[in-house]
Amino acid sequence: MSRWTPKQIAHMREALRLARQGWGLVSPNPMVGAVLAKRGRVIATSWHTGPGQPHAEVSALALAGPKAKGAELYVNLEPCNHQGRTGPCAEAIIESGVAKVFYSVPDPNPVASGGAARLEEAGIQVDRGLLADESWELNQFFFKYSTTAKPFVIVKAAASLDGKIATRTGDSRWISSKAARNFSHHIRAGVDAVMIGRTTAAKDDPELSARPWGRRKMHRQPWRIVLDPLLKLPRDLKLFNPQLGGPTVVVCAPEAGQKDREGLRRLGHAVWEVPRAASGLLSLAAVIDEIGRAGLQSVLIEPGATLASSALLEEPVADLIHMFLAPKFLGGKEAPSLLGGPGLENLGLAKELDILKIGRMGPDIHLVLRPSGAFGPSSVQPQAPILGYGHLTDDLDELYGTDPPDSPEAGD
Ligand SMILES: NC(=O)c1ccc[n+]([C@@H]2O[C@H](COP(=O)([O-])OP(=O)(O)OC[C@H]3O[C@@H](n4cnc5c(N)ncnc54)[C@H](OP(=O)(O)O)[C@@H]3O)[C@@H](O)[C@H]2O)c1
Repeated sequence: MSRWTPKQIAHMREALRLARQGWGLVSPNPMVGAVLAKRGRVIATSWHTGPGQPHAEVSALALAGPKAKGAELYVNLEPCNHQGRTGPCAEAIIESGVAKVFYSVPDPNPVASGGAARLEEAGIQVDRGLLADESWELNQFFFKYSTTAKPFVIVKAAASLDGKIATRTGDSRWISSKAARNFSHHIRAGVDAVMIGRTTAAKDDPELSARPWGRRKMHRQPWRIVLDPLLKLPRDLKLFNPQLGGPTVVVCAPEAGQKDREGLRRLGHAVWEVPRAASGLLSLAAVIDEIGRAGLQSVLIEPGATLASSALLEEPVADLIHMFLAPKFLGGKEAPSLLGGPGLENLGLAKELDILKIGRMGPDIHLVLRPSGAFGPSSVQPQAPILGYGHLTDDLDELYGTDPPDSPEAGD
């Protein structure tokens, strides 16, 4: 039986719902919501809207004013205890006269943690762990980055039921449904970077921008990262368009020409050099390290067959996989499959994936998978199961509004 009352659970659930409004707006900060309640009734709510903006607790307290005295505060992350761009939440809570604080998970950031201890020192009751699993899952990008300095890596791919990503003549638009493609824009909207391989860039000429439907306006675009070992991609591709906003990074091999590097930099793009892996391709582990060094907390890989094989088999880097399977067969020995590369020699080498979710996205099957060894909750919440919410799918309508049937086609 839960040690929390249904009312307390409902208040924290509301804090989490509010926190989710920050999807794509708050990085490098976590998504945080706060609810102030007195005698079971909500008196103020708020959520963190982005870097430099007040923390959720502080803005809820400001809304409540003197009514905060004696109230309970529900917040999905331990209140901070440091002076950053905004003041420490712990001090604001103490000053407000709040009687009790419920928080879900500790702040893993050594600079900001210690808020709960400070509150207790000041005589405020503190209750930890309410809806900890959901709260951990909500901010896994932030938790992974804070504890490893590496980004959380998502791989997203779509295929037919027989695992094909195009027909034998190369026709690939679109295998998955509009609902699945909309969902991909939702993920793009929430990550710090989107990454593809050279061939996908050259063949599909994607913009790699996040274009979620409905009322949400993107205030920033994810970084675009393309793996182009010898810097041979034509410069008139859409992802080099300076109007898109947000930088484009081209990752190259040590032998890439200096002139090509300078040319790209003159156009305002970044060039990162990484070593080659044993496969001869660029080392993905090194790319992931670079992404972390740039301060990016999450990356979505949208791989062609070569990059999929590289990211899922040869140099596994994924923490979470979103797979869409369209209920159709394409057949054809020559038609490309989801994973290219050399492939495994024997079954014993195949690693099992945890299936976190089997759902539907429009007509397609939506699988959310977790490779073994992927980032887990242990550093933050040792017992937490991984729930496989698959990026807040239940809240998409709330974030964007319902997708009108005549809305423009989402695509690359
Ligand atoms: N169904 C889907 O979900 C989906 C998603 C995206 C793309 N696609 C399709 O996939 C096709 C392209 O796939 P592809 O297999 O030919 O190419 P790809 O995976 O898009 O790009 C592969 C190329 O990227 C470069 N690269 C550098 N480091 C790499 C690394 N560690 N791992 C992988 N690639 C690395 C290499 O360029 P060099 O050759 O210069 O060494 C490599 O040949 C397109 O037709 C596209 O439409 C399908």
